[in-house]
Amino acid sequence: MIDIHCHLLPGVDDGPATEDESLALARACVADGIRHVVATPHVFPGRFHNDRHSIAAASEAFAARLAEHGIPLGLSYGGEVRFSVELLDLLHEDRIPFLGECAGLRTMLLELPDALMPVGAPSLARHLVTLGVLPVLVHPERNKAIMEKPERAARLVDAGCCLQITAASIVGQFGPRVLAATDFLLREGWVSAVASDAHNLKGRPPRMREASAALTERFGARLAQELCVSGPARLCGRRLAVGQAAALTPSVPG
Ligand SMILES: [Fe+2]
Repeated sequence: MIDIHCHLLPGVDDGPATEDESLALARACVADGIRHVVATPHVFPGRFHNDRHSIAAASEAFAARLAEHGIPLGLSYGGEVRFSVELLDLLHEDRIPFLGECAGLRTMLLELPDALMPVGAPSLARHLVTLGVLPVLVHPERNKAIMEKPERAARLVDAGCCLQITAASIVGQFGPRVLAATDFLLREGWVSAVASDAHNLKGRPPRMREASAALTERFGARLAQELCVSGPARLCGRRLAVGQAAALTPSVPG
């Protein structure tokens, strides 16, 4: 599987504090069936002061550690960019860490506050698309306004957002309301990718294999493969060789 949202890099946000913790999380990703991680630290003005340059440097350093330790995990980088007034400044200063390119647009993880749906979110998404950016909205199922009324996500999809669901939401880690919103978004066909949003081994491990198994059980193997392998690959601009998609799909136990 390909994980396009993971807090893997050490000491840059609320993910692993140390290199050893990052290496342990990387090993857990491999054990979970993940072959490639896009490391996506928070880019949150006023809280986590990361940008394309700092994340590129941290990612390059950690890739060397992975190689030294013989951990078979592909690594690239992006960032989880917070909805903020500073976002457009970062874009104009070429400091946004894009995941890659998809259909001629640069893909960017976009995080809204969990507590509400900002009034300007759809118009910002529309504006980003006109600037050549594809906003990939992370964990909409955990946004309170969408949890209350999942139909609200339509405004963001119509504005050009792709939706990325968190693996743990699919297996019920965040409770029944998040699970219900997740199911709604999946049934509507609005979801483009599942990602781990892993932060650590204790409370926020990857759980991609379980999510893929749950998707297979509830929606079929084709959708599981699309959301855990092909969709994420497209969003980060990776081409899968013929047969590689099937090889990256975990077999479902039982
Ligand atoms: Fe995240």
